[in-house]
Amino acid sequence: MSELTFSIIKPDAVKAGKIGDIMKMISDAGLKIKATKMIHMTQAQAEGFYAVHKERPFFGELVEFMISGPCVVSVLEGEDAIKRYRDLMGATNPNEAAEGTIRKAFGAGIEANACHGSDAPETAAIEVPYFFSNLEMVN
Ligand code: PPS
Repeated sequence: MSELTFSIIKPDAVKAGKIGDIMKMISDAGLKIKATKMIHMTQAQAEGFYAVHKERPFFGELVEFMISGPCVVSVLEGEDAIKRYRDLMGATNPNEAAEGTIRKAFGAGIEANACHGSDAPETAAIEVPYFFSNLEMVN
């Protein structure tokens, strides 16, 4: 079944000039880009986006990192897109990520791990409209 997932190219990867490389990996994996834009998150936007992690010890650092520079947010579409994009990203910790994944290629650590992707349909249903309106998505 075709589904949507939400992607962030995080500030570390943007700073390192890897937007094009990561977009190519997404495209080569057969995921369709429904919408994309560069943003620089405010603290309130980052805190809201990661609210599910607000009790975790790293919450403050994660928010600081996500507002440290611009990132690229996108909506991806495809059969089983959520799992396929998670597989393409690789493990959260780049040291544990498989060869050929985005985090293996461009991640530096558990915080600067290059990308984010929705982990379930319920999460995607919250994350996509957090940054995009329907008008911004191609059909
Ligand atoms: S996962 O994939 O959601 O199960 O990973 P999880 O370990 O729960 O981590 C959730 C997000 O928090 C980030 N993270 C951290 N940031 C800063 N410092 C530390 N120690 C840390 N540990 C985890 C991790 O990169 C995940 O970010 P997203 O954007 O959700 O992938």
